[in-house]
Amino acid sequence: MGFEEIAYKGLETGFRTYAAHVVQQNKIRFVFASPYEPSEKEMSSHIATHGDGVKDVAFAVEDIESILQKAKERGAVVMKEIWEESDEHGKVRMATIKTFGDTVHTFVERSGYKGVFLPGYRSVTTMDVLSSKLPPGMLDFIDHIVGNQPDLCMESVAEWYEKMLQFHRFWSVDDKQLHTEYSALRSIVMTNWDETVKIPINEPAPGKKKSQIAEYVDYYGGSGVQHIALNTKDIINSIENLKSRGMEFMTVPDSYYDMLRERLAADNFHIEEDLDILQKLKILIDYDENGYLLQIFTKNMQNRPTLFLEVIQRHNHSGFGAGNFKALFQAIELEQMERGNL
Ligand SMILES: [Fe+2]
Repeated sequence: MGFEEIAYKGLETGFRTYAAHVVQQNKIRFVFASPYEPSEKEMSSHIATHGDGVKDVAFAVEDIESILQKAKERGAVVMKEIWEESDEHGKVRMATIKTFGDTVHTFVERSGYKGVFLPGYRSVTTMDVLSSKLPPGMLDFIDHIVGNQPDLCMESVAEWYEKMLQFHRFWSVDDKQLHTEYSALRSIVMTNWDETVKIPINEPAPGKKKSQIAEYVDYYGGSGVQHIALNTKDIINSIENLKSRGMEFMTVPDSYYDMLRERLAADNFHIEEDLDILQKLKILIDYDENGYLLQIFTKNMQNRPTLFLEVIQRHNHSGFGAGNFKALFQAIELEQMERGNL
């Protein structure tokens, strides 16, 4: 996807529990970790239960003490109290609390730290030979991260974010709006005070057949991160580049674009991008009177039908593609049917 490895820790750096590779693209950083030791429990059992997935969604914070103190007073489960790590580039303070399922949030107070990632990591400067010959991914920052919950667990998780992290509700949608003939879901988008972090919380709603959220929960073994949306300023070039790099995306039927053209004409709504190109790339469009968003979803990132990614471009539109859920559901359901799970 056009990420470059920037840092590493493992046996060669004197860290013996797990290997960790940090990849970065603009403001997006992912850390991929794999345990070394057969006796290692935390990471091994996470992988055994959930398969590949998101274990930790880390937040940069300015005042770790007051954030942790408030969360603790309100009953948050602390996985690891504040600890400090340092090297020649400075010091970082961190603490980890539990959120939905086996997912955790690590707070990272890195004020003044000058190293490439975190203390203990060695910087990686060798460029990937193939990657440097391919066009860039053009992905800028994490737009939102979605957490899937079992049936009737969404509200309590949304409340957890209000209570523990002082988040508020940004947007929500119920199953009357989000359903197809077979499948339905409810969603509440949680956000922090200055609305820089967005965490939509989903749960399945009853339908004729198994909801994709229920399918996720079955295969993941409970609550977990369903998708990570990556923001771009130029989705057409980004998706052309990512496809030429070999990235695979969900497709939608051409009927989606027939219906869209009719709706756009009826609403007299203008989109800057060429609709034929958007259709060719299978990029989805959602809009209201103020603006629009363009989005596309990758296929699952691993064998289990659990985690996937999204690429999103916003034109004065702060929604999450509710108008696309139906088209998206229908596309997902085609694949669910192929897997024999619909
Ligand atoms: Fe999304």
